[in-house]
Amino acid sequence: MGDQEFHLPKSLGNHTPKIGLVLGSGLGSFVDTLDDNEQVAYSDIKGLPQSGVEGHAGKLHLGKLGGIEIAIAQGRVHLYEGWSAKETASMIRLFHQIGITTVVLTNAAGIVNANFKPGRWMLISDHLNLTRQSPLTGEATFIDQTEVYSRALREMLKSEAAEIASAYLFEGVYAWVNGPEYETPAEVRMLRGYGADAVGMSTVPEAIQARALGMRVVGLSCLTNYGAGLTGQALSHDEVIEVGRQAAGELFTLLENAVPAMVEI
Ligand code: HPA
Repeated sequence: MGDQEFHLPKSLGNHTPKIGLVLGSGLGSFVDTLDDNEQVAYSDIKGLPQSGVEGHAGKLHLGKLGGIEIAIAQGRVHLYEGWSAKETASMIRLFHQIGITTVVLTNAAGIVNANFKPGRWMLISDHLNLTRQSPLTGEATFIDQTEVYSRALREMLKSEAAEIASAYLFEGVYAWVNGPEYETPAEVRMLRGYGADAVGMSTVPEAIQARALGMRVVGLSCLTNYGAGLTGQALSHDEVIEVGRQAAGELFTLLENAVPAMVEI
């Protein structure tokens, strides 16, 4: 076991989840809905970076959702805190270490496509890495990125969402930026020109890392606000967290149905 990157408490050995979920800003309340929930603080896992950002409490939860075993990472670290891209993808390597094969990445994102609506969810179809950082730097790992976000899982999620009247899913391209400052209106116009539908500061390094390890990836963005310049309003982190909180219930309803379907695909 000495060559393993993360040193995990022994009690975690009782759980054998195949699905891992990473929760974004404001979505932490999701974990209250887990059955048989066992929690481990990130500080009790040797090798894992610790976040200091409000709304990103660092805990790993192991429990059941819709009757299926799942690991949920509540809180992640970001480039803007000074971590490397490789460090921001640590949780994915931990998931891989414990046998997880499918990762569900969630985040809070700003809207770039003005047809999208705050408070709604966007299924990530593809991404733009605008940070020029990679979690794979240092390895000659030339992975294919033709289909980072599993098409089969996306189709399944869309049909599950269609069964729940309130859970309408947008679908689009997520642009990863460094932050921590939000974009200028000129940057939001540029992002739209590049083909982005939403913008945020996470998820992409985890998706790249997961693909490099041969895992399946699903990405879901909570559209918390219009990007700068799309309305006359200023952006605030408090609003991002609050809208995320309100949208967490819908994510739960969707995943409660979709997680059991995920293990069948
Ligand atoms: N921009 C970047 N990241 C974000 C935003 C935004 O508008 N909202 C939530 N995360």
